[in-house]
Amino acid sequence: FHVDWDLITAEKAGFDHFMLKEIHEQPKAYRDTMMGRISEDGKSITLKEIGMTAEQIRGIQKVHIVACGTAYHAGLVGKTIIEQLARIPVETDVASEYRYRNPIITEDTLVIVVSQSGETADTLAALREAKRNGARVMAITNVVGSSVAREADDVITTWAGPEIAVASTKAYTSQLIAFYLVGLYFAQTLGTRDEQYIGEVTTALLQLPEQVEALLEQAPVLKLIADSIVKHNSLFFIGRGLDFAVAQEGSLKLKEISYIHSEAYAAGELKHGTLALVEDGTPVIALVTQEELAEKTLSNIKEVKARGAHVLGVTNHSNHEEVAKSVDEVFSIPNTLALLTPALSVVPLQLLSYYASLALGHDVDKPRNLAKSVTVE
Ligand code: G6P
Repeated sequence: FHVDWDLITAEKAGFDHFMLKEIHEQPKAYRDTMMGRISEDGKSITLKEIGMTAEQIRGIQKVHIVACGTAYHAGLVGKTIIEQLARIPVETDVASEYRYRNPIITEDTLVIVVSQSGETADTLAALREAKRNGARVMAITNVVGSSVAREADDVITTWAGPEIAVASTKAYTSQLIAFYLVGLYFAQTLGTRDEQYIGEVTTALLQLPEQVEALLEQAPVLKLIADSIVKHNSLFFIGRGLDFAVAQEGSLKLKEISYIHSEAYAAGELKHGTLALVEDGTPVIALVTQEELAEKTLSNIKEVKARGAHVLGVTNHSNHEEVAKSVDEVFSIPNTLALLTPALSVVPLQLLSYYASLALGHDVDKPRNLAKSVTVE
């Protein structure tokens, strides 16, 4: 009796690729990142890792979020989260640009660096630049003891566990969870949101893992959609607000591992140029999860439909019927608070990219030209 066994296969725990395994580990990553940080009654957040006093938090005049790649995309969502919950102005920059634009960093600036590995050269350099200018630095990282973790003043660890696939999935969503916690923590300290509101958000946060589990069960539908996408050499992701932030991550994911060209566009900006590229059959993935913006995005969907685009609408259960009328295919995520939708809407996009890469026969976990951790500037 002989069993073929090797370490890599064992580490994949029955999944064909690390990426698929890591996508499936997201419910656990969400739970682990929230664990011990939300009170029993759900009405308060504990972040012992934040060494700032209430007075120091009240003194923050602005926040700069700095990161690269997928972590930068988490920072785009982080901007909205902190602004909405704590009402502190936030700017998000890619680390390789930040230092060279002579940013206005003062002692009352909080710089939040986001890095899965904690070793990205540009992110580390931005952190050092921020400290040189007297700013306090908070790190959101997945690696305890990494360079970023060692040099930051406050470290929020994302408990996603080791991420092996180059295309980041569970690290991104855990970074979102970290931002929700930080946003709520600031809100409770500053009094911008009351206990009841915080309780509503934490209740919804705690439901996310199960909602992701439900989403993962719909993977076969996304595989079929991916099989039709791979026939094209270019496609667009559109959305407004948080949907636009997630669209950018969805587009990056697809590019990284399927090598299909795609662009993410703020839906309302399409008609200012990019619409010229939409022709008969061009696939467009439209995210419509933000109730307040749905009507506007639907009218942008009509614009691309009129040029012959084939539209996949990604929406939530409550908007399903409305969106279904305007698109060719529709995929719905469970309902949650508008602010929390990115933690769900990105999941179908991760799966779409995975299946697209698979259908094209690419090396899903190790895409060409890319490295998991970039330690050169
Ligand atoms: C590389 C990886 C990306 C990652 C980026 C930032 O480009 O391929 O997946 O988002 O670096 O990495 P970090 O470890 O700083 O989050």
